[in-house]
Amino acid sequence: MSIALQELERTVGELTVPGKGILAADESVGTIEKRFKAVNAACTEETRRDYRELLFSTPGLGDFISGVILFEETLKQKSLTSMLLPQLLAEQGIAYGIKVDRGTVPLTGFPGEKMTQGLDGLQQRLGEYKQMGARFAKWRAVIAIGAGIPTSQAIAANAHDLASYAAMCQELGLVPIVEPEVLMDGDHTLATCARVTEEVLHAVFHALHQHRVTLECLLLKPNMVVPGAACSEQATPHQVAQATLTCLRRTVPAAVPGINFLSGGQSDAAATANLNAMNATAQSHPWALSFSYGRALQAPALKAWRGESANKINAQQALYQRARLNSAACQGQYTAAMENE
Ligand code: 13P
Repeated sequence: MSIALQELERTVGELTVPGKGILAADESVGTIEKRFKAVNAACTEETRRDYRELLFSTPGLGDFISGVILFEETLKQKSLTSMLLPQLLAEQGIAYGIKVDRGTVPLTGFPGEKMTQGLDGLQQRLGEYKQMGARFAKWRAVIAIGAGIPTSQAIAANAHDLASYAAMCQELGLVPIVEPEVLMDGDHTLATCARVTEEVLHAVFHALHQHRVTLECLLLKPNMVVPGAACSEQATPHQVAQATLTCLRRTVPAAVPGINFLSGGQSDAAATANLNAMNATAQSHPWALSFSYGRALQAPALKAWRGESANKINAQQALYQRARLNSAACQGQYTAAMENE
């Protein structure tokens, strides 16, 4: 077996440890500014450093979190005690990776649809990230649902770029997290989300196959199958779990070791309950089903922090609690009563 393959397998093994998941802390400057604004915190390089230092030094975080996705800025930032922030994670036995896409732009000729940027020069950047200790990477493609969209052209173009990114990562020994996100925006039904997600995942795995990506050495980060946020008929965790598992069984080969869902705008409690329902079902599935949440893990910590260093311990406790509940959900052992423990 090649050295790169051995390295990829080792990283996949660490990331998919039962009962653990991934913390997405890779918000771009613009996105984290929005999140900070919502809690009245200023957004500067220093406050972003303080906030992420707080998250990564949460005592016991490694009990529930196997990996953290970083934004490029964080990879190079130092803590108040001059330690590189990723080192705080390494000390807790947590692997770190990096978001390598450069955000989305409109897809020319296709109103309402988007493409993800960042393939130019990616190979060189991946080499640099690897040298800085990154073990995995993330690329997010977005698919919107609306009148006449998504088009098959947008789906195919996004699937193609996800696959080229994944192939480049594996070549360099970085595990690719492949994230095709069907957005929750809109009033579409659960059935529509199911139909679109099935089409998107089918296209993504077709492209991965064409690009000779080793399925055993990647993680899929999909949306759950949920109704649009503005749909009048919302779904129970049982309905979300059934629709999501049906879709995954139809499209994701058993060779894929792990599926780590994004939260995509679900509330923290809903994201936990829905993941739990998937793992609590009697039907078996071939992949580890876990989380790679951004908002659904960080929301309570952000609310507790509000930009004040005096709130650090409370914010860390809030993150620890949310990570603990999601760990229980990975094992189908979460109950709503645990929210108040
Ligand atoms: P959310 O869980 O907030 O959707 O973030 C996950 C993520 O990494 C989006 O790219």
